[in-house]
Amino acid sequence: MNTLVVVAHPSLDETSIANRIIVDRIRSLSQVTIKNLHQEYPSFTFKVDTEQDALRKADSVVFQFPFYWYSVPGILKEWMDQVLTYGFAYGSTGDKLKGKHFLVSTTVGGPVDAYCESGYNNYTIGDLLKPLRQMSNLTGMVYHRPIVSHGMIFIPNVYNTREEVEGRAREHAEKLHRYITAEKTEAMPSNQLLDF
Ligand SMILES: Cc1cc2nc3c(=O)[nH]c(=O)nc-3n(C[C@H](O)[C@H](O)[C@H](O)COP(=O)(O)O)c2cc1C
Repeated sequence: MNTLVVVAHPSLDETSIANRIIVDRIRSLSQVTIKNLHQEYPSFTFKVDTEQDALRKADSVVFQFPFYWYSVPGILKEWMDQVLTYGFAYGSTGDKLKGKHFLVSTTVGGPVDAYCESGYNNYTIGDLLKPLRQMSNLTGMVYHRPIVSHGMIFIPNVYNTREEVEGRAREHAEKLHRYITAEKTEAMPSNQLLDF
């Protein structure tokens, strides 16, 4: 199964701890194509035909990103805006993503208990990921249960230790590795999204 991993991190090779560990773990898998958006498109202007061809060839699409301001990093939103066009991703003839598997894989700075109605972030990660889930629905993709890891921010003497973040990133990487190499058959039951 061809898997396209769309990576959005402004500094994957320099400042990233978590996403670098995760991407490095799956880099050498056969049939995996890693697309590092910031590296390929520092100006945020995408070659739409190239991107759509990459999507056409994929059976499975993964979005790998750090959670930024309760959403995807800006470059990933811009990629969606430019690449997922009418007639390609939606509309009466826009069926090119239909049936492909789709996974959100994201690292979240805040702790898990902050992401609920009584926590300081008020909403669950499932709530906040709903726009991506609906993009998947509209384009006819098969939405899989997201892989989400919390406590992924490292600020010395403030948030976590480097070792804690690296350990969680390795666990996340194993989950993603298992997902990519597993048989994929069915969509995630709709009631599982609110569990995070
Ligand atoms: C611009 C920016 C926005 C962020 N917004 C959030 C946020 O909304 N919620 C959260 O829990 N963490 C947030 N974080 C923390 C990141 O999610 C965390 O640092 C990242 O997942 C760590 O991955 P990395 O080591 O690959 O950079 C933010 C970080 C940055 C730099």
